[in-house]
Amino acid sequence: MAEIISGKEISYTIREEISLRVKKLSAKGIVPGLAVILVGDDAASNVYVNMKEKACVNVGINSFVNRLPADTSQNTVLDLVKGFNEDDKVHGILIQHPLPPAVDESYVFSQVDPRKDVDGFHPVNAGKLLIGAEGFVPCTPLGVVEMLHRSGNPPAGKHVVIVGRSSIVGKPLAALLVQKNDRANATVTICHSRTIDLPEITKTADILIAAIGVPEFITADMVKKGAVVIDVGTNRVEDSSREKGYRLTGDVHFEEVEKIAKAISPVPFGVGPMTITMLLHNTTLSAEKTLH
Ligand code: GUN
Repeated sequence: MAEIISGKEISYTIREEISLRVKKLSAKGIVPGLAVILVGDDAASNVYVNMKEKACVNVGINSFVNRLPADTSQNTVLDLVKGFNEDDKVHGILIQHPLPPAVDESYVFSQVDPRKDVDGFHPVNAGKLLIGAEGFVPCTPLGVVEMLHRSGNPPAGKHVVIVGRSSIVGKPLAALLVQKNDRANATVTICHSRTIDLPEITKTADILIAAIGVPEFITADMVKKGAVVIDVGTNRVEDSSREKGYRLTGDVHFEEVEKIAKAISPVPFGVGPMTITMLLHNTTLSAEKTLH
């Protein structure tokens, strides 16, 4: 049976480290602050924002959450962003994705000051990641790389296959893993929904990362024996036996794959908590940068 890579446990250790960094900053009169903008009433987004708020408070980061109705205009959102860009108490700005269809999400993201873009979604930070310059890296890719290192599975020299090409996970994760440094140095393949003979490619992965958003898409026949498998998926699947009426399922068929993998991350309590932990890290980092 595969070893379980617990994002929850790894997160716990990193959050302790972050608490210490926040204490050091506070002693110098700087309390890291995260401003969050949530527009609309998407149930999953609401849960994520609540979790982010709680996580901030637990490590001593100030959290300023703005919950706005679904019919909020783009200009109202832009005015808020402008205010946070200019506010010294705010070191990180997070606009919860997705925004309602009437709001041009890419444009709104592009109006965040890149120095406060703790989500790493701004085109300047995306470009910096691609050329290996210092900037903010999106939280989920950063969390995945941290999980690999802290679980004793460094990616250097390994063939990493990423299934999924989103701008939030697949593409930035590939850019991070191919970088020429000790944290990366991987050989990376990106696959997606149009890839021909996907299982032939996923079976060559030493490290397989599923980020395609399809419940239990990766089955045992797609995985090499002894591979390390990281499941980025967080899918709500109807389940009348649960109080909430749904359960969370990853992109990996866990029961099948845990029998052949060397190590596997679960859903929930895998990548999910790591994403939030990296948001705390990026916000603290942004505050630390004000000292230099
Ligand atoms: N929605 C789902 N994941 C994310 C994320 O990492 N950041 C933001 N802002 N919204 C999201």
